[in-house]
Amino acid sequence: MADKNKYVCLDDFENDSREILEASRFSYFSDGCNEQFTLKENREAFKRYRLRPKILRDVSNIDLNTTILGERISWPVCLSPTAFHRMADYNEGEVATARAAASVGSAMALSCVSTRTIEDVAAVTPRGVRWMQVQFYKPRAQLEVLIKRAEKAGFTALLVTVDQPKIGDKYSIMRVKNALQFQLQDHEKPVNLPKDNYTNGNEIISKFDDSATWQDVKWLKYFTKLPLVLKGITTGDQAKNAVECGVDGILVSNHGGRQLDYLPATIDALPEVVAAVAGSGVEVYMDGGVRHGTDVFKALARGARAVFIGRPIIWGLTCNGYEGAKQVLDILKDEVEKVMAFMGCRNVNEIEPSMVVHEDYYRKCKL
Ligand code: FNR
Repeated sequence: MADKNKYVCLDDFENDSREILEASRFSYFSDGCNEQFTLKENREAFKRYRLRPKILRDVSNIDLNTTILGERISWPVCLSPTAFHRMADYNEGEVATARAAASVGSAMALSCVSTRTIEDVAAVTPRGVRWMQVQFYKPRAQLEVLIKRAEKAGFTALLVTVDQPKIGDKYSIMRVKNALQFQLQDHEKPVNLPKDNYTNGNEIISKFDDSATWQDVKWLKYFTKLPLVLKGITTGDQAKNAVECGVDGILVSNHGGRQLDYLPATIDALPEVVAAVAGSGVEVYMDGGVRHGTDVFKALARGARAVFIGRPIIWGLTCNGYEGAKQVLDILKDEVEKVMAFMGCRNVNEIEPSMVVHEDYYRKCKL
């Protein structure tokens, strides 16, 4: 039984995971691509924003409730899709993740590269808010089957990853064994994809369709009755294209710095996307480097309706399965609530853009 008290912030779970996991698996989860510039920048950029609270506003009751695509969540933090959860938690994998998300009123996006089935995840969280993440596959019929299963299992949106025509190069893993490339053990193999006997990550990625275009997004909109959220948008132009295709939401994401290096930090890229879709009704979310309640607040002030987290959940699973993932979310939720109180905001509608400024604001005003 893990000692719960030793985890006081999200980084503690990552530090422990480094000790617990076999090195190439830790690298697979943690690393960014190439020089890992974008990976680091996701964190560094948050540190460049400063907070300007309102005070003495009776913050004895904080209400973190909000909605995404019309569905209620208990606070504006949700779970990004990440692959291979049974590599972190042998017993339950994505089932533990789904239970943890539902226990704190977060939405969970299930990766198409999951190690538990769509139906298993739905069965343990019948009332949880669940989105299904998909890619464009070759052949397209396999994607159609997956979508139909997700619709039937009560998933309420499709999160379509659009920033991964190829797989980014992660040097540490390539040096060990030529890419994603440790052999997957049986329990680590993805179970939703059509061919179940993959032996390594390269075989999975070879099924992703790098010929996909905006026409395919339009086709998807027509094919499914579920709302569409595009994941991996980082510019205003991309966002405008997405709106033209009739999408319902955009997740500003650089894939946690894992695909194309030198993409901007998402906290920096966010307002351009928000401005590009203004008036369209399309909701904008962000992920990448969110590790503390102040990060969540900064993202909301800069225009996100909700933020998503990726790696922290994997670290929670690694340290203590369901309990660990839940503890990650509990800690972050407490932090968000406290930051809201410090900032003088009793609910998310009271968060104002002017409450977060870039550090240059203070460099310029030399009194
Ligand atoms: C991912 N991510 C990801 N994205 C996606 O659309 N489908 C997937 O299957 C995966 N798999 C995946 C595995 C691992 C190990 C990581 C770390 C990430 C990207 C993920 O959804 C998200 O964009 C980032 O993880 C967000 O950054 P943070 O919160 O990890 O900093």
